[in-house]
Parts: sequence; structure tokens; C-alpha cells
Amino acid sequence: MANIAVLGYGTVGSGVVEVINTNKALIEARVKEEVNVKYVLDLRDFPGDPVEKILVHDFDTILNDKDVDIVVEVLGGATFAYNYVKSALLNGKSVATSNKELVAKYGAELLAIAKEKNVNFFFEASVGGGIPIIRPINECLTADEICEITGILNGTTNYILTKMSKEGLDFGTVLKDAQDKGYAERNPEADVEGYDACRKIAILTSLVTGRQVNFEDIYTEGITSITPSDITLARKLGRSIKLLASSKFVDGKVFSMVSPVMVDADFPLYNVEDVFNAIFVKGNMLGDAMFYGRGAGKLPTASAVVADVVAAIKNRDNHLEVKWDAEKFELSDVSESKKQFFVRIEDTEAGRMEAEKVFGVDEFITDESVKGECAFVTAIMTEAEFAKKEAMLTAIRNRIRMN
Ligand code: HSE
Repeated sequence: MANIAVLGYGTVGSGVVEVINTNKALIEARVKEEVNVKYVLDLRDFPGDPVEKILVHDFDTILNDKDVDIVVEVLGGATFAYNYVKSALLNGKSVATSNKELVAKYGAELLAIAKEKNVNFFFEASVGGGIPIIRPINECLTADEICEITGILNGTTNYILTKMSKEGLDFGTVLKDAQDKGYAERNPEADVEGYDACRKIAILTSLVTGRQVNFEDIYTEGITSITPSDITLARKLGRSIKLLASSKFVDGKVFSMVSPVMVDADFPLYNVEDVFNAIFVKGNMLGDAMFYGRGAGKLPTASAVVADVVAAIKNRDNHLEVKWDAEKFELSDVSESKKQFFVRIEDTEAGRMEAEKVFGVDEFITDESVKGECAFVTAIMTEAEFAKKEAMLTAIRNRIRMN
């Protein structure tokens, strides 16, 4: 019998219990043994919930129970989660987690402990929720040199951008609506400023490089400056705006960035809408591949966590090697990377003259619904060149990278 302890009975934790209970027979047929949720750890009580009978408030009960083989960590945050996960691994228990903060910061260290103790540390749900992407990178794309990983890795921001685009609403209005419906957190900073997507691309990039990519080193911009004018003018160009988390691997250099990007209709992620996530991977042999699905939510995320539990049961006493060394990988300076930029300015004679002089543009994009503003698209240039020129534009309102 496999005994499991679930740390945290929030959205994902209750989902893990539900997935195991709902699919118990088929999961047990797959692992060829009984699967039992022995404990759920939470500070709260849940009177009337069947989980009451297995609820504990003290992690040591779990840690000291030799019959617990697998710990599921779905608490979130990096402090308690780190201490619990590390102790569990050191005590010879495998761990499955959905916690991207924990994995981005301590993934290399926790994998090394898992290896030393001949157990497993699995984190499929930490990136892309229910979408399989960690295991494909570790196990299925190993014949390729990866050239690019670009993802829509945050459901909240994709929902907000989709709704702004479809309904012509501004960022603040859509955010409030999303919060009222429970789609966005009361404190939305981690999502709307791009921090959540940043941790996720840091994890994927660490797995591709096999070394520690620090999320603090990744240039990160959120979606708070996007306006309905940007979306309308993007549409005039046949484009949509997406928050992309991307790592490009070019001649031994790796450029990682999180920022809104105005993507054209041919781009594989153009049609990814609402809360959906997708990850585009380009390999030198494989070519293009796409992974698409629900990047958040109770049951999709729990599905990925329970799949890790299944893998942990199937691999008792068999550590599955994942190359992610603690040695830091130095990302290249994104200011060297080249692209075109969309620039929105005040639509005045002086504004246009300035744009013509600084960027040499002679074609401006306008729309009758966009009052007092116009836009233009630059030539391809480095981020550094653009930043220099941008500083000379007094009429600038916003700028968005283009793919
Ligand atoms: N806040 C995240 C999102 C949840 O909106 O995608 C999943 O990590």
C-alpha cells in the first residue's frame, strides 16, 4: 500500500484528494497497489468534511510516520514548503509539488537530496498546471538541442488580455471583474507583474540548460501598461498582445525574458485565449512542438500532481535522474537581443515629427476609435538601441515588443 500525505488543503490540495478518490480504481490498477491518503496537513479545521478524520496540524506526525512514502506539497510559498519538503526528502520520502516558487528557488538542492536519498522530487504541476511539460522536457525531448521555449504561462493575465481584447475594456476594469469572479487573486501582483511567469520560465530554462537559472536574472515586465488603444492598434496590424515568457538559445547564449509581445496571426500562441496556457518548444531535430491546456485550476493542477504520485509509486527505490546542477547559469544580456517594437505616441504634429526624426518612420497606424494617439513600428534593432532612441521621444505613451 502507498501512503500519501498532502500538505495543504486549499484549492489544489482538496483537488488532489478528489482526483485520488474519483480515479482510485484506475490509479490502483496502474500502480498495482492500494493508494491511501493517510494524512492531510492544514492549520485550519474542516468540520463536516470527510478529510476531518485524517487531518493533522503538526508536520512531525507525517515526518515521523515511516509508513508515509510520498508527500504532496501544495502549500505554496517558499519558506514552510522548503523546510517540509527538505525534511521529507531527507527522511526518505518522495515529494510531488505544484509550488513554482519552491522549485524555481530550491529545485537544484532538492533534486540533489532526492538523489542522495534514492527517492524522487517531482514538480510537473509547477509549470503549466495540468499541461505535461516538465516530463516531456526531461524524458521526451532529450534527443534535441532546444532552440526556443516560449510560453503563455499565466492564466490570469491571459484571461485579462483576452477580455480586454474582446470587450474593449481597460486593464483595471477587467482585473476587478476577474477578482470578483475569483479568477484573479486579491493581491494580483505576482500574476500581473509577470513574476509568476518568470519563475515558471526559470524552471524550464534550468531544465534545458541543466544548471541553475536564477529567476531574479530574468528581465520581467507585466501587463499593467497595456491599454485598449494598444489592443485596437495591434488588431489593425493583424496582431494580438500576449504575455510571453521566453528563452531563446542562440549560439551558446540564452536570452530569457517575460514581457507583453504583439504576436502575429502565424505565431503558434496567437490563438491561446482565456485562462489557457500553452508552451511552444522548438528543437533542432524535432522542429516545432506545442503543449496546450489548463495552466491553473483545482482538478487540472491536481491531475498533474497525482500523476507525479503515480510516478513516485512506480519508482520506489529508483531515483529518476534530472540534470539541474546548483551551479549558476549566466543568462545573456537581453539588451543585445534584436526585434521590432510597436510604439504608441501622442498624435500631434510634434509627436509625429519626433518619431520621424528619431526612428525614421514615415507610416503611422491610426484608428478612429483611438483619439489623440497613433503608433508606429520600428525597424529591427537591439533592445539597447531601442532604449536609447526611446529616451528621445517625449510623446511616447507605450511600447510593446513584436515577435
Ligand atoms: N496564478 C497562476 C495563473 C496560477 O494565473 O496562472 C497557476 O500557477
